[in-house]
Amino acid sequence: MLEGREGPAVQKAMEIVVALGNIYEAEHLAPIAHAHVAGVSYKNLGEAGLEFLREWAAQGARVRVPTTLNPAGLDLDRWEAIGFPAEFARNQARVLEAFDALGLAQLCTCTPYQVGHVPAMGEHVAWAESSAVIYANSVLGARTNREGGPGALAAAIAGRVAAYGLHIDAGRAPTHIIDVRCPLRDEADFGALGYLIGERMKQGVAYFRGIDPQTIAPHCLKLLGAAIATASAVALCHVEGVTPEARAGLEPSPGTPVIEVADLDEGRRISNAPLDIDLVWVGCPHATLDEIAAVVSLLDGRKVATDLWVTTAREIRAQAAGRGLLAAIEASGGQIISNTCVVVAPVEVMGYKTMATNSRKGIYFAPGHAGLEVRYGSLAQLVETAVSGRWEVAS
Ligand code: F3S
Repeated sequence: MLEGREGPAVQKAMEIVVALGNIYEAEHLAPIAHAHVAGVSYKNLGEAGLEFLREWAAQGARVRVPTTLNPAGLDLDRWEAIGFPAEFARNQARVLEAFDALGLAQLCTCTPYQVGHVPAMGEHVAWAESSAVIYANSVLGARTNREGGPGALAAAIAGRVAAYGLHIDAGRAPTHIIDVRCPLRDEADFGALGYLIGERMKQGVAYFRGIDPQTIAPHCLKLLGAAIATASAVALCHVEGVTPEARAGLEPSPGTPVIEVADLDEGRRISNAPLDIDLVWVGCPHATLDEIAAVVSLLDGRKVATDLWVTTAREIRAQAAGRGLLAAIEASGGQIISNTCVVVAPVEVMGYKTMATNSRKGIYFAPGHAGLEVRYGSLAQLVETAVSGRWEVAS
């Protein structure tokens, strides 16, 4: 492959895989079962990225393992009704055509594990999208480094990765013990914890102690990991008694440095002042069916005064429709939007100026990517804000 016997497209993919292997001193390659490619929104990719994809496809590049896509810049099914600009929609369609030519499944979600792509424990995959990477490594026990978009695509075309970092046992050993000594009341606390740990660690592998397994709803691990990966290069965290490798007996070695967490203030550091809110956003990373059900239950039939976006995968939206959750959210004036999110969509041209969310990752990126003034809180706080139109109180 490296010598070009399978053509220039495969040769280019293999050159990228081998270059990474040389940089990180990998001893061998590992076959992958799945890949997940980020950098899908036209907003992030632009013409240069699109040209890169088209050229590779024109050379004959095709993925050789099932490969999914991160969120695109708009809801592919309902963009016009939601109010996305037509020109942006045309350009996004060109990007998806290029990915289609490369053979990628157009799932467009940052939670491929919710829609049938669940790697087995110990299986090698090549995932981009930091929140999905840390989920795959930590919660599923799969093995992936934090690939860039081109790196994941190259691995998908070559069908293998260089085995270094989190692909090998040595790379998965805890480098820091996180001793949690404060209560975690809701998902916003998990996000705040993740963000502060990311800021303190910067890199390495976390091993959390002191979190009561009974308090961890599945979506809390999703939000914890997304927040850690936002603030750092950390792509694996073990949680004592919860995550599979910790349950299988993996423990920190003696002398592993300990970070004590007595409160979560450092992880919040966001203005809590009252503010009129244009948009309430749930679903970063993309919402689970349980989170959607929780929104419906908290709304309890009330109308919203703000726009309310619940972002998720197209397949989860369809399941929500089947359970009556979509109809309930729409009856309240909210929307379940699929294939995209506030960070990768061109919301700055849609008139939004202020936003509240329960995602620490969303809070970090929305001001820079979409020019939004933000507020951070729990799902319960968000729903009250959506109903009143104003951010008033937060704990
Ligand atoms: Fe997913 Fe967008 Fe958040 S890609 S992790 S919903 S910023």
